[in-house]
Amino acid sequence: MSVQIAPSILASKIAELGDQVRRVTDAGADLIHVDVMDGRFVPNITIGPFVVEAIKPATHLPLDVHLMIVEPEKFVPDFVSAGADIVGVHAEACPHLHRNVAQIKELGAKACVVLNPATPEAMIRDVIGDVDQVLLMTVNPGFGGQSYIAAVERKLEVVRGWIDASGRQVSLQVDGGIKPGTIGPAARAGARNFVAGTAVFGQPDFKQAIDALRAEAEAAIG
Ligand code: DX5
Ligand code: ZN
Repeated sequence: MSVQIAPSILASKIAELGDQVRRVTDAGADLIHVDVMDGRFVPNITIGPFVVEAIKPATHLPLDVHLMIVEPEKFVPDFVSAGADIVGVHAEACPHLHRNVAQIKELGAKACVVLNPATPEAMIRDVIGDVDQVLLMTVNPGFGGQSYIAAVERKLEVVRGWIDASGRQVSLQVDGGIKPGTIGPAARAGARNFVAGTAVFGQPDFKQAIDALRAEAEAAIG
């Protein structure tokens, strides 16, 4: 599948979480994106492994767990045991990034490395050969509903080039402010995997929202 849409449950009706995950699965999502925040790496607190475990039976889709936490190595085993299929760690939170990537893979999950908007791409250059996914944040992480930072498109183009040159299957994901009007430019710059919170869960018809996002991305890729 050339374009993947990953709705972020941060924007869902949390009191109805299981039902929301089932509905977005039926609406054609490709991944379920789970935002984990610790109040230290980012100025917000969200959810822990037990929520991942709780939603696992509600979907057959991969759970894409985005860890916005310091010292992620302390919690990666718990998230994988809880059912995380993809685990993303921020390069800014990992002085030994290669070791963090190895830990995730040894536990049997797919490894994703994440960069904040202002972090240079050089931070992940030497793990491109090891990871399954790269996430370039298009907002400063911490909250849903923020505005897309178009300056990240330059970095997307560079990392797209590295991935293509590697010959490896590495999913290039963007997260933050993705909606109609921004998904096309992000796709043109090289992204193929799109996290969308408010642009899916904030809409009355999830299927219509996902279809519109996918159509704009596919049209931009050509
Ligand atoms: C931001 C989170 C995002 C967020 C996206 O810190 O990592 O996944 O939920 O929300 P939207 O799509 O509303 O910008
Ligand atoms: Zn996220």
